[in-house]
Amino acid sequence: MNPLWTSAAVVKATAGACAGTWVASGVSIDSRSVKAGDLFVALKGPNFDGHAFALAALKHGASAALIHEPVKDSGEYHNRLVVVKNTFAALQSLAVAARTRANARIVAVTGSVGKTGTKEALRLGLSFLGKTHANEGNLNNHWGVPLSLSRMPADAAFGVFELGMNHPGEIAPLSRMVRPHVAVITTVEAAHLEFFNSIVEIADEKAAIMDGLEPGGTVVLPRDNAQYPRLVAAAKSAGCKNTIGFGASGDAVARLLSWSLTPDGTQVAAEFDGERITYDMIVSGRHWALNSVAALAAVRAMGCDFHRAAGALSRLDAPPGRGARSLVQLAGGTLLVIDESYNASPAAVRVLAETLAQMHQPVGGTGGGRLIVVLGDMLELGSAAAALHAGLGPSLKAAEIDIVFTAGALMEHLHKALPAPMRGGHAKDSMSLIPLVIAAVRAGDVVAVKGSHSSHLESVVAALLALDATRGAGAVMSPPRDGL
Ligand SMILES: Nc1ncnc2c1ncn2[C@@H]1O[C@H](COP(=O)(O)OP(=O)(O)OP(=O)(O)O)[C@@H](O)[C@H]1O
Ligand SMILES: [Mg+2]
Repeated sequence: MNPLWTSAAVVKATAGACAGTWVASGVSIDSRSVKAGDLFVALKGPNFDGHAFALAALKHGASAALIHEPVKDSGEYHNRLVVVKNTFAALQSLAVAARTRANARIVAVTGSVGKTGTKEALRLGLSFLGKTHANEGNLNNHWGVPLSLSRMPADAAFGVFELGMNHPGEIAPLSRMVRPHVAVITTVEAAHLEFFNSIVEIADEKAAIMDGLEPGGTVVLPRDNAQYPRLVAAAKSAGCKNTIGFGASGDAVARLLSWSLTPDGTQVAAEFDGERITYDMIVSGRHWALNSVAALAAVRAMGCDFHRAAGALSRLDAPPGRGARSLVQLAGGTLLVIDESYNASPAAVRVLAETLAQMHQPVGGTGGGRLIVVLGDMLELGSAAAALHAGLGPSLKAAEIDIVFTAGALMEHLHKALPAPMRGGHAKDSMSLIPLVIAAVRAGDVVAVKGSHSSHLESVVAALLALDATRGAGAVMSPPRDGL
């Protein structure tokens, strides 16, 4: 097997200096998780300096370390140090070199929500068609993207990268580094609104993914979104002739025809340019159905067998905190717990409500009891935050959610806006909310828990799972990822 990087290739890509010869099978910036054979890049940030850990990384088996400041007592490891001007710039150069040498077809995914989900659907679908490399987890920012790109094997057939942003101007340079053949924009919504003045500004930032699009490339755009016309106009001015609208709208070329919850996940019927397919996923909800249609539209745009990719989606597993379902055994029956504690935004809560609405019918072995939602503050929404929290009421009502529990100062706006019969209880934070939720749930209920990561709703999930009379923890219904 060819190594990911040789010392000669690293020296050339980074204009660095190194006295020794070695090969690296991975790239790492974190000495805690560095693996034997990795190239350790000593990044320097405001609160940390990787140079302090370079020697430890080498002692743990790293092949070499990329540095821009002297490392004391490097002794026997001296020949494994690559000295560059600036390690962050060198990581970017390595990423560019990885992209330049690759023959892979590249997909980049951005959007307000659904990036990781769509990326994972692409990773899985494409891995059935050829060697596929994708960014791990949520590595989607200014260092996560170059790190992920630098990890792409030279012989990968496909590369999938999630591009994220918090501030204006972040997407374009990432896209120019990744140079996708297909770019996907999942949605444009109020999320990460703090540093933007309006949804239109967010749309323009997402559209900047087209800056790096390869000539003749394709953009997959959210047909149902209010910003769709603006995104199409952006594609036109970027010189991109190939746009594919995906969504439930009758005008979508990649069209979600229907979705329904099954005991194991979601069944989807979709149509691509009039060609109809159905497939099953073990993840649950309308958002997974939509994200999978976007992913398959991208696979099809690359001229690949999207039927095979769709078949592979039956193995798609929910990343942690993004919809894992657990059955908790209570005296008298089961409680279905849906863990959405990884993050939250208004669009994500609305789509959760739409999904729950389907659960009025018994799904997944529950008795068709009450629908309970436990919500924590949605962060990064800027000055519109209070109104966006209060504004969730109608969607929750339309979905006929029976009881809503809320935690946090922002969610108090929703609590006050809800009709009294829907109010389960409010607390200042997730820990204080736990006793109220635990006292309320009973066998047959479905409880979905959602909030921004820093709202720590995972503590509510843990408390619910601990109710399990048989094991002290719920039975996770989604099988573990099998390393595909
Ligand atoms: N297409 C969608 N429409 C609305 N909500 C969605 C959609 N896809 C995912 N979500 C919601 O957003 C949550 C996070 O999904 P995901 O991690 O895929 O988003 P992301 O864009 O990668 O987020 P981040 O900005 O944290 O990287 C999900 O748990 C779900 O609640
Ligand atoms: Mg993500």
